[in-house]
Amino acid sequence: MNPGLAVDFLSPSENALADEFSACGYIVRDVEDRPMLDAFRHEIAGFAATVLKLARPADDGEFLDGIHRHLTLETINDFRLKMYREINAQPWFRPTYFKLAARMIEALVGNELAMQNRINLSIQMPDDTTSLLDLHADSFTGETPYQVVEWLPLVDVAKTKSMFVLPLEKSRAVSTHLKDFAEGGMPALYEAIKADLIWLEVPYGKVVVFSPNILHGNILNREPGTRWSLNTRLTGLFTPYGSAEKTLGSYYLPITLRPVTRAGMAYRQPAGFEE
Ligand SMILES: [Fe+2]
Repeated sequence: MNPGLAVDFLSPSENALADEFSACGYIVRDVEDRPMLDAFRHEIAGFAATVLKLARPADDGEFLDGIHRHLTLETINDFRLKMYREINAQPWFRPTYFKLAARMIEALVGNELAMQNRINLSIQMPDDTTSLLDLHADSFTGETPYQVVEWLPLVDVAKTKSMFVLPLEKSRAVSTHLKDFAEGGMPALYEAIKADLIWLEVPYGKVVVFSPNILHGNILNREPGTRWSLNTRLTGLFTPYGSAEKTLGSYYLPITLRPVTRAGMAYRQPAGFEE
C-alpha cells in the first residue's frame, strides 16, 4: 500500500492516550500552557490574600501551600466559600481552566463539549477533617458515566495531600462485588482495597484527567502543606445525561458548540417538504 495513505482515523498520539486511559482510567500530563497556569494561580493567590487582608504574596505557590498559617478550623469554611464564589464569578475562570487540558480532553471525550457550570475548589489544611471526600465512584450516585473530571492542583501534591484512585480494571472488579460490603459500607471497602490504591503524585504544572467511574477519594492530609485543588466535569455535548438535576443547560453548559451543530439546531423544514 502507498505509505502516503491512512488506515487509521485517529493519530498515533490520540491512540496512545486512548490506550492509557482505557487501561488506567486516569491520565497525568503537563498542562498545555504553563504561563497560563501561572497567571491563573497568580489571580487565585491574589484573591486569597485579599480575603485574608494580607499583602499580595511574593511567591504564589509558597503562600498557598502555607495558607493554614492564616486560617483555623473555625475560619476555613468561610474562607473556602468566599474563594469559591470569587473565582467562579470571573469570566476567565472556566475558559482558562479548560484550555490547560483542552487537547487532551478533546482527544479523550470529543471536540464538542459540555462543562460543569462551576469549578469546585478543595482546600485541605494539614490535619483538617472538615472537607474530606471518602471513597466513591460518581456514577454510583447518578452522575453520567460519559464524563471525565479535570483535576488540577495549585501546589505540589503527593501521598495524603493528594487524591487516590483505584485503577479501572480493579474498580470494575470491585463494582461487581459491592453487595459484599453492604454491612461495613465504604469504610470496609476502603480497608479491602487500600493496598491497590494509587496515590497520585502531581507536582504543580501537571493536570489529571480521570474517569469518575473509577473509585477515588481522599483522606486526612498528613503532609505539612495545604492542598489546593480544583475539579470540574466535562462530557460530550450529545451524550445521555445522568439525572434530572444534572442536565444540559443548568448543571452542564455547552462550551465548544460547532457551527454545523448550531445550523442544524436552527434549521426548520420548509412547509411542503414534510413526509
Ligand atoms: Fe468524585
